[in-house]
Amino acid sequence: MLKLPKDFLMGGASAAYQVEGATKEDGKGKVLWDDYLEKQGRFSPDPAADFYHRYDEDLALSEKYGVQAIRVSIAWSRIFPNGTTDKLEPRGVEYYHKLFASCAKHNIVPFVTLHHFDTPQELHEIGDWLSPVMQDAFVDYAKYCFKEFPEIKHWITINEPTSMAIQQHVSGTFPPGEKGRFDNAFQAEHNQNVAHARIVNAYKDMNLGGEIGVVHALQTVYPYSDSQADKHAAKLQDAFENRLYLDGTLAGEYRPETLSLVKEILANNNQPMFKTTPEEMNELSQAAHQLDFVGVNNYFSKWMKAYEGASETVHNGTGAKGTSVSRLHGIGEEKKPDGIETTDWDWPIYPKGMHDILMRIHDEYPLVPAIYITENGIGLKESLPKNANNDTVIDDPKRIDYLQKYFKAIAEAINDGANVKGYFMWSLQDQFSWTNGYSKRYGLFFVDFSTQKRYVKKSAFWFKKLSETHEILE
Ligand code: NOJ
Repeated sequence: MLKLPKDFLMGGASAAYQVEGATKEDGKGKVLWDDYLEKQGRFSPDPAADFYHRYDEDLALSEKYGVQAIRVSIAWSRIFPNGTTDKLEPRGVEYYHKLFASCAKHNIVPFVTLHHFDTPQELHEIGDWLSPVMQDAFVDYAKYCFKEFPEIKHWITINEPTSMAIQQHVSGTFPPGEKGRFDNAFQAEHNQNVAHARIVNAYKDMNLGGEIGVVHALQTVYPYSDSQADKHAAKLQDAFENRLYLDGTLAGEYRPETLSLVKEILANNNQPMFKTTPEEMNELSQAAHQLDFVGVNNYFSKWMKAYEGASETVHNGTGAKGTSVSRLHGIGEEKKPDGIETTDWDWPIYPKGMHDILMRIHDEYPLVPAIYITENGIGLKESLPKNANNDTVIDDPKRIDYLQKYFKAIAEAINDGANVKGYFMWSLQDQFSWTNGYSKRYGLFFVDFSTQKRYVKKSAFWFKKLSETHEILE
């Protein structure tokens, strides 16, 4: 039987915008999503899971089901409504003090993210991560939080900088919805690396005694076949999605092979290389040498084939059961090998990818002292039975099966030497998903979005047992 280490932390994850609701309450400023979602009319960020008012109830449930830690993010625009320290909103500050006090009351350790896809609107309008003003404002906001919330001992600078950059500038699925601008995506990634580094360095200078890390979306990328062309496409995709960010934050430098792959992608798209300064590179190096941990968000892996055509994403069907094909000019085409199991949303279920990415950090980035799995889980179409009552338990065998397989892969990586200190399931409670709204549910706890009533899922019992025994049945 495989066993997780004694002090392994079992947690649940969330993000402010996806879970809090109350987007117009208590002086909160707008973020990049508010007008964008309203214009699209697909779904509303309110009330989400109404965590703004129901945090204590969720934390009590968490305590009951063995959740020892929680990932929450601070909504920057609750504290500084227009993003800059010029105007402070005390009601936002008070909310987070109350939330953290409730965590303490329920013996739950908060891991707090400073930016989880929710740039304040005014900073978004001046260029978001492409703007140096945004970088400075982010550093000021972070320093404010470090001073204001000394009760927090685990900080995360930025959630998934690469996803943010790619979705804002290449796939166009995040506002401003730009497509095919690899140059902007790489520049935005570098700028996030620098902002992250400045914050890590500032935090270490403040000597507050806690730990600080960053969360990265990591997909293990494999070639579709053994051909040289497919192998190269996999390398390009890996540089595009993983390497630039891993290098910048975990090695503190961009390695020559990473830079040459990035240059190749840009040259294939007739776009210029991103800009760096020697001072920024020093900051990256200094931060990588003082970073306490990296957070790994891993849900699936990718297989790449060589591809010559224009960039395109073809969706066949929508939401559950839909499949999508992604081809990027100058990189390659994603193609799943036959026989790979997938989720309702066509995401490959491939636990080996989790093992491989953990080992890669261990092997290629020796400066990293520790790893947390900061997100992993499965999005399902789930509903409440018609005759539901207070004792109804939602049956989610697919989630239990998914977790079982991924935990086995994590335990194996730990046995192979990876220093993985904890796991945060995405998500703690059902919350909306950025592109699929309320139909895709990830939670350990089911939320009836019309009444905001919570129901327990069977996976919560499974989670509690694992949290208590640390034993993974094979
Ligand atoms: C990554 C993000 O951090 C989170 O916000 C998102 O909802 C999940 N992955 C699921 O796609």
